[in-house]
Amino acid sequence: MTNETGPDTRRVERLIALLFLIATLAGLGGAAVYLAGAQTQLEGAFLAVCLGGIGAGIILWSQFLLPGGLRQEARHPVADAADEQAVRDVLAEQGAITRRSMLVRALAGAVAGLGAAVVVPALSLGPAPGRSLFDTPWKSGMRMVGLDGQPIKASDVPVGGIVTGFPDGFPGSADGQTLLINVGQGMLNLPPDRMTGAPDGYVAYSKVCTHAGCPVGLYRDAQHQLVCPCHQSTFDVLDGAVPVAGPAGHPLPQLPIRIDPDGTVVALGGFTGPVGPAFWDMTDG
Ligand code: FES
Repeated sequence: MTNETGPDTRRVERLIALLFLIATLAGLGGAAVYLAGAQTQLEGAFLAVCLGGIGAGIILWSQFLLPGGLRQEARHPVADAADEQAVRDVLAEQGAITRRSMLVRALAGAVAGLGAAVVVPALSLGPAPGRSLFDTPWKSGMRMVGLDGQPIKASDVPVGGIVTGFPDGFPGSADGQTLLINVGQGMLNLPPDRMTGAPDGYVAYSKVCTHAGCPVGLYRDAQHQLVCPCHQSTFDVLDGAVPVAGPAGHPLPQLPIRIDPDGTVVALGGFTGPVGPAFWDMTDG
């Protein structure tokens, strides 16, 4: 049993205030370590001390300072001596309230320190990627070139052949790399709106695997399948490069193309979907 204003209560209050102060300093320390160059273990230690201080303080507060048990309303005083005692009680209670408000301020400081330790590392978040994950260098009217920057001509790719092309001006582009495949006339089974972008049996797909981003470099001509060497995802070239085996869950996006009179291969626009691993599952509405 503790006395509301007795030495035990005051000692507990001082201990709680000390814990909250330690938590405040630990939270600010964690933020300072991060701003000084970040040291993960030290930041974690500061955060642990901050959370531990707040938790221990709240436990002590609830155990020793909050009222518990049965309460009875005292009967009305009947003598002047009792009135005097009541006045003393009120004054003592006001003193207790003042100390409790001090504890509330200490707790607010500790929570602010914790907030600093947690929020300041958010400064490390880079700029939002915006449309960069959806756009590639490919634009309507852009020629397809080889790694040497020379235009690729349809005649360079015989039936059953395959070459890797890039947008003109971006040879070696990671997200613009494209497979141009000649499957022969009348073989493709694409939706009507995509057939116009695959003239004379030539079809172009992103070379970036939709599983984990490896270059899809193997072509099985007899089966008309593209195979990713990393985890063996297999894509049906005739049917819009839908995956037919392996872990990839999405087709390779198609690059709509035309063939100009001089034989050069020219893009009609960008890819039909985002290139690469399927983060777009989270954006597909
Ligand atoms: S990256 Fe292509 S199958 Fe895994």
